[in-house]
Amino acid sequence: MKKKYNQCFDISERNKDYLNVSIKRSKGILPDMEVAKAYANMINKISKKKISILDVGCLTGHFNRTFNRFLKKEYTYTGIDPWKIHIDAAKKIWKDSSNTKFKIGWAQKIPFGKKLFDIVICSNVLTHIPEIKKPLKEMLRSTKKILILRTPVHDKSYRIQMVLNSKWFKYTKVEPKDEFDERGEPRVYEYYDVHSKDYLESVIKKIQPKAKIKFIKDTFFSKKNIQNKNDKKLNKTMIINGQQVSDLLILPHYFVIIKI
Ligand SMILES: C[S@@+](CC[C@H](N)C(=O)[O-])C[C@H]1O[C@@H](n2cnc3c(N)ncnc32)[C@H](O)[C@@H]1O
Repeated sequence: MKKKYNQCFDISERNKDYLNVSIKRSKGILPDMEVAKAYANMINKISKKKISILDVGCLTGHFNRTFNRFLKKEYTYTGIDPWKIHIDAAKKIWKDSSNTKFKIGWAQKIPFGKKLFDIVICSNVLTHIPEIKKPLKEMLRSTKKILILRTPVHDKSYRIQMVLNSKWFKYTKVEPKDEFDERGEPRVYEYYDVHSKDYLESVIKKIQPKAKIKFIKDTFFSKKNIQNKNDKKLNKTMIINGQQVSDLLILPHYFVIIKI
């Protein structure tokens, strides 16, 4: 299995499921994500009239469609993602958009100089990265003022791996009988980590001792918009007792607003 930064490289390289949903969102065939609208509201509150945004882990730039519709200010949007299939699709969709750029890049090594963006956003990405010090350092290096993460946070950290096999995930060749190796390690996996507030704060403070950090629970969603009974997606999101539940995981999503 090809890995980089201990993430399974092949998954996103071969998986067209996330890609196709993102393409439909970028083209307006599927509705805006609730989280993207929440980001737009937060960015609207920043006093600057013209703003440059870096979106880390952008897929095909579907947040940009929401920003086009909901941002009440001039802006430029730059998206990075490690996978060529995502960035190729993004460039094609947004080829006529003059304020929009895409580049292949990892959160662990952002391919831009320091302090080039007014705001860096990173939504639903850190949870999939096993070592978050490097990405946080890179994102804090890239922003002039503010970094907004959206990620699961709790009082304790949990290391969670979803183990993939060919029965449920057609883009892996590993059969269910082989999904764990001789040492009991999953062969193909995707992390769904939850980080403790204490750990996140300590990592951020070590990089930027003067950073101001705010944790805001993501309650900015409408049950009706998230929960689509006809949605055949494998890990579809349900709302149970006001919590977003992805397959069998309750993921306590927070916006973490970091001002430097
Ligand atoms: C669940 S999707 C989230 C997409 C979008 N940000 C959103 O919230 O809808 C995770 C994204 O993170 C990207 N990703 C995974 N590992 C990454 C890494 N190490 N650095 C940057 N992006 C990464 C994936 O390719 C994918 O586009």
